[in-house]
Amino acid sequence: NFKLKKRMITPGMIKEILPIRTEYSHKGTYGHALLIGGSKDMPGAPTLAALAAMRSGAGLTTVVVPASIHSMVFGRVPEAICMGLPEESTGHFSLKSIEQLNLDDKKFTALGVGPGVGTWDRGVEWLKLLIKSTTKPMVIDADGLNLLSLDLSLLGERNGTIVLTPHPGEMARLINKNIKYVEKNRVDVALEFAQEHGVFVVLKGFNTIIATPDGEIYINTTGGPELAKGGTGDVLTGMITGFIAQRIPVKDAVIIAVYLHGLAGGFASYPSNYSTLATEVIDKIGKAIHYTM
Ligand code: APR
Ligand code: MG
Repeated sequence: NFKLKKRMITPGMIKEILPIRTEYSHKGTYGHALLIGGSKDMPGAPTLAALAAMRSGAGLTTVVVPASIHSMVFGRVPEAICMGLPEESTGHFSLKSIEQLNLDDKKFTALGVGPGVGTWDRGVEWLKLLIKSTTKPMVIDADGLNLLSLDLSLLGERNGTIVLTPHPGEMARLINKNIKYVEKNRVDVALEFAQEHGVFVVLKGFNTIIATPDGEIYINTTGGPELAKGGTGDVLTGMITGFIAQRIPVKDAVIIAVYLHGLAGGFASYPSNYSTLATEVIDKIGKAIHYTM
């Protein structure tokens, strides 16, 4: 495709689109990120996402999890608002949880859904209710993507912008192909899905690809094997949600988050990229922002 607009993400690009925080601002200026995820066996994933959203500058962050893990999550993120909602006996959200969440669109400026949410019988139905219930930009990740891959028509239920953040395995499930195919055709796969479904696609892995609904491609240059450890994807979801929450245009927010996530990983990789933890990547988000501005 000779018209394909393909660009590498550069530090200069980030400097241009990452806004300066002004003196006369307050937390309302920087929006309200809503992270929804977690299940009995995975309380850590939404916790990481919430921490990352706050480190990325969101004015307020609410993290919503099934009731039984509420205190565990709250204990790790005292700065966030934490809500425990009705769950099934399996420790996954029940359909009632959406009703109880009663999404008041005025309250939130961005949603991040999926980290640790699991997959369960009524999961697709649950995700559908959630997608229909908001007009705000929504990032869908992890098991949110696995639920979505069971019924792609859910994307047609949306009222707002959607960002999908699959790793190659999740991408393969979304398009019903194998991982090898995805890895061989990273740009085309991301681009085709983004255009066909009118969503942003962040295809993760070395040189993460960002495809926009109108056919642009951005290729990331930061990040390395220090990020190849459980939890780092949840951090990215929190960062993207956190930057969108601040009302930075979705495309810019995604580019900023992907770039800074890799840079923070680099900073967290000393003295050895064997040992980097997702929480340490979160702790370096500030350094990555400082270094870039
Ligand atoms: N180079 C650059 N970036 C990398 C590299 C690498 N070699 N390896 C990993 N990364 C980055 C990816 O680009 C992505 O941003 O680290 C992040 C990993 O994200 P995920 O693969 O989603 O991993 P994570 O979510 O932390 O894994 C936990 O959640 O999505 C599920 O199936 C997944 O079970 C897994 C669980
Ligand atoms: Mg993941």
